[in-house]
Amino acid sequence: MRQASVPHGATRRSPLRVATTLIATGVVAAATAVAFASAADAATTLGASAAQSGRYFGTAIAAGKLGDSVYTTVANREFTMVTAENEMKIDATEPNQNQFTYTNGDRIASWATGNGKRLRGHTLAWHSQQPGWMQSMSGTALRNAMINHITRVATHYKGQIYAWDVVNEAFADGNSGARRDSNLQRTGNDWIEVAFRTARAADPGAKLCYNDYNTDGQNAKSNAVYAMVQDFRSRGVPIDCVGFQSHFNSQSPVPGDYQANLQRFADLGVDVQITELDIEGSGSAQAASYSTVVKACLAVSRCAGITVWGVRDTDSWRASATPLLFDGNGNKKPAYTATLDALNGGPTNPPTSDPTTPPPTGGACSASTTLNQWTGGFTATVRISAGSAAVNGWAVTLTLPAGASVTNTWNAVAGGGSGTVRFANASYNARIPAGGSTEFGFQGTGTGPSATPSCAAS
Ligand code: G3I
Repeated sequence: MRQASVPHGATRRSPLRVATTLIATGVVAAATAVAFASAADAATTLGASAAQSGRYFGTAIAAGKLGDSVYTTVANREFTMVTAENEMKIDATEPNQNQFTYTNGDRIASWATGNGKRLRGHTLAWHSQQPGWMQSMSGTALRNAMINHITRVATHYKGQIYAWDVVNEAFADGNSGARRDSNLQRTGNDWIEVAFRTARAADPGAKLCYNDYNTDGQNAKSNAVYAMVQDFRSRGVPIDCVGFQSHFNSQSPVPGDYQANLQRFADLGVDVQITELDIEGSGSAQAASYSTVVKACLAVSRCAGITVWGVRDTDSWRASATPLLFDGNGNKKPAYTATLDALNGGPTNPPTSDPTTPPPTGGACSASTTLNQWTGGFTATVRISAGSAAVNGWAVTLTLPAGASVTNTWNAVAGGGSGTVRFANASYNARIPAGGSTEFGFQGTGTGPSATPSCAAS
């Protein structure tokens, strides 16, 4: 997780967020150089290669497939972020009004947490996949049901979610630039901002995203989303990120202005995320398109990460179009290799708001922390940088203020909950190439750490 270059608190009304950068001592001041790996150092999984630039690489996961060992082996090896494909949607979590069912969503959350992965929540308010009782509602009753649903579900998953798709697909296709007609839209044009404010109140630690498709290039629909995000930012409606689903095929290929479109949204002061990537096709053409998408994300400093919409082709909602990175047997496709190569060879464009940690020399590491504090809780992102020699493992130690404790950790193994806490590398991000860096994060209650972290390399 990364903190905005413009602190979120600047436009958020509540809770107050403060971005603090702590730089380890004993380090020569110099411009940041987040170098990518040489061929010999190149990371060998999607998650590890994305982590080299502080990004994640995720997948949609289906609870019903967690018993398939080929599926879980590939998913666990390659990905560092998980989105529940269907299990956190409205029809899954509230099948009858005020009767909440989290069994399958919790299975995915447990699998993610147990394997050191972060979670994207999908989705709290959507015209589609509404349970029958909600489909037939309107007006104030529906508005109140939406607020209740968001509050209950976001509260249930509080502390576990990196980012929520708060509202999904609320704009119409075509050239109208209008909102999509739906029962939610007919409750009043302010339903989207009410959804975001409700989600922020329920889980202040989660980034809050608007998510849509056919917004991947500049067009009437993405222009309308852009205007909404601009308006929300100017009025302090809590929005932190925009998700670009990125479902591509020959009729709807990767737009030529894909990167420019991501960048213009990022320039509004929000993160951008590629949330449901799949590209129909095969062979070198499919591989080239995947490469284009990855390079576009790497070139936009506020592009936080990429999620593909499933593991193997056979897991896809469009299985017959073979749009994913692994074939039905879990073998890597040319699109996989192109994606990994793009991640390993990408431009050195670290996240805008990341602390500038100058590299130490001689096989050592340095650490810096970006803190995101709100009343009663915090998230901390720690960047570890190698010096002029690669490190093969690392451990960061820092001291929490009295009363604070760690509740959740990602991309590292946590050794303790309060006082002096130690975080060691996960298996996939142990090695940092010379001049490179990686990140881990943790969430906690109380006040976040103000002490300088120390870093020990091995
Ligand atoms: O689980 C039942 C199964 O028991 C039953 O036999 C079968 C019969 O049709 O249906 C199964 O449920 C299906 C479910 O996926 C699980 O496979 C639903 O019919 C089917 O509608 C549902 O499709 C999902 C779709 O959203 C619904 O809108 C896809 O899995 C899911 O990948 C897709 O995801 C969406 C994102 O949420 C938003 N963006 C677009 C994306 C693709 O449509």
